[in-house]
Amino acid sequence: MNIKAIDLNTIKDNPEAPVCNTSENRYFADIIQARYSRRTLLKGSLGVAAVSFLGAGLAACGGSSSSSGSGNGPLPAPRLSFESVPITRADTVTVPAGYTAKAFVPWGTPITGAMPAFMTDGANTGIDQLQQVGSHHDGMHYFPIDGSSDHGLLVINHEYVDKAVVHANGASSLPRPIDEVRKEMAAHGVSVIEIQKNASGDWEVVTSMLNRRITAFTEMELKGPVRGDDRVKTAYSPEGTHTRGTLNNCAHGYTPWGTYLTCEENWPGYFHVDIDPLPREFERFGISGWQQNHWHQAEEANGELTTDTAFTRFGVVESGADATEDFRNEPNNFGWIVEIDPFDPDSTPVKRTALGRFSHEGIVFAAPKVGEPMVFYSGDDARFEYIYKFVSKNNYQEGLRGDDLLDEGTLYVARFNDDGTGEWLALDIDDVDFMAAVAESEYHYTTQAEVLLNTRRAADIAGATHMDRPEWGAVCPRTGMVYFTLTNNTARSADDTTPANPRANSQVGHIIRWQEDGNAAATTFAWDIFALAGNTLEHGFQTGYSYPAGKNLDDSNIFAAPDGLWFDDNGVLWIQTDTSGALMGGTGPAGDFGNNAMLAAEPDTGVIKRFLVGPVDCEVTGVVMTPDKKTMFVNIQHPGDSSSPNNFSSHWPAEVAGARPRSATVVITRDDGGEIGIA
Ligand code: FEO
Ligand code: CA
Ligand code: CA
Repeated sequence: MNIKAIDLNTIKDNPEAPVCNTSENRYFADIIQARYSRRTLLKGSLGVAAVSFLGAGLAACGGSSSSSGSGNGPLPAPRLSFESVPITRADTVTVPAGYTAKAFVPWGTPITGAMPAFMTDGANTGIDQLQQVGSHHDGMHYFPIDGSSDHGLLVINHEYVDKAVVHANGASSLPRPIDEVRKEMAAHGVSVIEIQKNASGDWEVVTSMLNRRITAFTEMELKGPVRGDDRVKTAYSPEGTHTRGTLNNCAHGYTPWGTYLTCEENWPGYFHVDIDPLPREFERFGISGWQQNHWHQAEEANGELTTDTAFTRFGVVESGADATEDFRNEPNNFGWIVEIDPFDPDSTPVKRTALGRFSHEGIVFAAPKVGEPMVFYSGDDARFEYIYKFVSKNNYQEGLRGDDLLDEGTLYVARFNDDGTGEWLALDIDDVDFMAAVAESEYHYTTQAEVLLNTRRAADIAGATHMDRPEWGAVCPRTGMVYFTLTNNTARSADDTTPANPRANSQVGHIIRWQEDGNAAATTFAWDIFALAGNTLEHGFQTGYSYPAGKNLDDSNIFAAPDGLWFDDNGVLWIQTDTSGALMGGTGPAGDFGNNAMLAAEPDTGVIKRFLVGPVDCEVTGVVMTPDKKTMFVNIQHPGDSSSPNNFSSHWPAEVAGARPRSATVVITRDDGGEIGIA
């Protein structure tokens, strides 16, 4: 059996991928249908309708300078100062005139230990990979050292691997050579890299004790309500307090206290489960081994299958007398937000179970205010899944950090009402309304740990609103308004469509936003749509709109499948795309979107410009700037992901014929030394 390379995003968009939400909650699309008629939407007048409907609260996200969510005082509305770059299929990174982009820390860059050099023929071993930058760069944050914009820690997620690229000649047949599996597991996780500008102004990797690789092997601790629960006990940790590894690290977050948060997204596909019937903790995840990694079927050099449980745990069976003698519970150790202290290379990453267990895309906090709770938002990227919010029990104070603020609190899920209001529904064993809904369901929970292990089901029961694959969120530094990408949903039928999720078989997605009623911990909000992605042409997609502008997108700004989303400190909203191959590579109208891109938006006007286009068959995901806003880091993931072994569809970043494609960060600067994006 051959082990094939699989694009996870293609899987999620594939009709054969499991739709795990079969609950009957009212689809979000229904709700917006009630607010705006479909006909009105298609005529393009929603911009006016939305603003007038929502009133001053939402319309102010940039209309006039209101109080700053960041506590830094009013900010002027940002105005983009660059000329939009055109759509292209070029196998390079394209940025506007007056900007320079350079590839940095590509997959395989040595950062620790023996500093093994990257081998262009793909021959590096799994041991090498443990000391090199991982594969498939995604979410990323820059932690300044002493506040510097020239020296800091760049922390990068590594989401998955492309087996056709990561191995010299693709993946071997079963059973799998153990070092091949080791290389794949080591290419996942997180890189912590100390970086510094040299005298020439170029960024370089510092040989540093802070440099670190966190992988699918790294020991992790569980904290919060699920710690010690029977359902996370394994032979590795009979007490249910520890596990190994973090997987499918998609988008990220960080905290005001200087730690990094990595998010476990498509972890269900890593496990081959042979338990019947499935435990309820597995039911809502479609755990079926669809990644075909077969990490549990690794062969030692002597030809024997490995007995090392670091590998065998991915084959989930009941082989022991109870859960403390096998790994039947191992999938329950994944699906969490993981907190990492990048400044302490000896620290054990912590899985923060109070924030729920699902396919976490990313996590973003509302601006912290001393004396108020911390608030975090996180999307569950699967078709018809939900948007969540966590409100800490303790109030934010200087000196309080993870254990104080991330282990106790209330997890909520969003319901979007017909009238433009919304509610946060508590998923909490102590919440009367939630427990009343549980009592009326076929389920029961006796502990908060049970609720959290079954977060998706709890959200079903609470009455959450089905969404079109929630990806990244971002909080406007000017107003505190929260924006979320809803990337696409090819499983939504015509009967389900409404103006908020207006497309049956949506391939192009949209961006929603809301304003909390009061402080960030409020349990109600008002919402509208910021933009519908799409093409200017009526060729199977509905026309795209930027709603504050109330007009069509055009050649300068059409985009599809918004995914990455980030506000810089100037209040510019950066939008990154993850369009499937058919939409960017085909001939005819479906090819109109070009390679995946990053766009910039003025939140108040809805002006959107294309800032960057990535190389062939990549996804653009992950963006951050230095504090002076003069260096931007952007991640290019899976260039050439339609490659087969030794037949690569992209040769970036080497840009040399035949070269092996490598995910990498791109360093972007302005040639005149100014701030990125604005005048
Ligand atoms: Fe890893 Fe939902 O993107
Ligand atoms: Ca993503
Ligand atoms: Ca995506």
